Amino acid sequence: MRLLLLNGPNLRLLGTREPEIYGRFTLADAEALARETARRLGAELDAFQSDVEGELVSKIGAARGVYDGLIINPAAYTHTSVALRDAIAASELPAVELHISNTHRREAFRQVSYTAPVCVAQLMGFGLQGYALAVEGLIAHLQAKQ
Ligand code: DQA
Repeated sequence: MRLLLLNGPNLRLLGTREPEIYGRFTLADAEALARETARRLGAELDAFQSDVEGELVSKIGAARGVYDGLIINPAAYTHTSVALRDAIAASELPAVELHISNTHRREAFRQVSYTAPVCVAQLMGFGLQGYALAVEGLIAHLQAKQ
């Protein structure tokens, strides 16, 4: 089983970016936790981060037939990107939308997700731990389908 973890814009700044909202862990910590969780459950996980919408779209476009599922924190593109939504839908891969913070407790513009309707699940508010929980949830979902 192969999983792809995608992180969107500004998430490479984790650790120093608004730590009162996002905590003090780094992107490397989040990717390592996701990778370890996958390995513990017998899966492989690749991780990719980009600030560029088109790069994320291309990565999702190339994922079909290579990966069994996606975990994506689209960051700000969650609230703006028809292109990412269309890419996830076109991939026909089960995807989990992940957020570090609980966006429902934040500004009104964060209440809308363009991507959640094409994902099997949305997980938010668990900080770093969300990266482990999303992997566990996606693997359970994929195993239930087998
Ligand atoms: C985020 C929430 C988004 O609203 C924000 O733009 C981010 C991070 C989160 O993980 O909590 O960059 O996706």
